[in-house]
Amino acid sequence: MVDYPPARIVGPRVRLRPPVLDDAGALFQRVARDPEVTRYLLWAPHPDVATTRRVINEKINVGDEERTWAIELASSGQVVGLTSCRRPVTHSVEIGYCLGRRWWGKGLMTEVLEMLLSALDADRGVYRVWATCSVANVRSAHLLERAGFVREGRLVRHAVYPTMGPIPQDSLLYARALR
Ligand SMILES: CC(C)(COP(=O)(O)OP(=O)(O)OC[C@H]1O[C@@H](n2cnc3c(N)ncnc32)[C@H](O)[C@@H]1OP(=O)(O)O)[C@@H](O)C(=O)NCCC(=O)NCCS
Repeated sequence: MVDYPPARIVGPRVRLRPPVLDDAGALFQRVARDPEVTRYLLWAPHPDVATTRRVINEKINVGDEERTWAIELASSGQVVGLTSCRRPVTHSVEIGYCLGRRWWGKGLMTEVLEMLLSALDADRGVYRVWATCSVANVRSAHLLERAGFVREGRLVRHAVYPTMGPIPQDSLLYARALR
């Protein structure tokens, strides 16, 4: 049994909570159908809200492998994005995140990462938090650097980013040591 940060984390401007099937409409409209959002993600834009529902259902039932949170604005309760942790090795956690385009550039994901990092830091078993992003994903690279992640290298032909096409692209590997 692998531990993850709590199912609910409250920050000044955003709240993290488990996604529910009723989030599908908002997540489809604001996040999952937008090719600008998925451009550097490992999944293609969702063609319909049924796809978003199916994916949420998979995330809810994924078991011990990973945990996904819906990102909710504290001010309005609107769901505006998703974040996740995957812990394939006990001491090491991979993070992922996406936010609806309307909410970019306000420092919201910086706040989410601070919340996740402080929750992960409270777990004495976690020593490493890491993420990969496309070499072209400047926003994500800035976010990670602002959050104290160190660029460990360039992963050649590392991943297919379906919105950009079927050819594997290079990624950057970022990590932050917690202790
Ligand atoms: C990458 C992504 C998560 C960044 O989200 P974000 O909330 O805009 O990121 P940040 O929290 O770093 O916000 C940074 C911007 O907000 C500005 N900002 C405004 N208020 C701020 C505050 N209170 N604190 C910090 N930054 C603030 C910063 O100056 C910065 O602007 P800049 O990029 O022009 O320098 C978002 O663009 C996204 O979801 N992209 C699509 C999905 C994706 O690519 N995910 C990552 C896959 S690896």
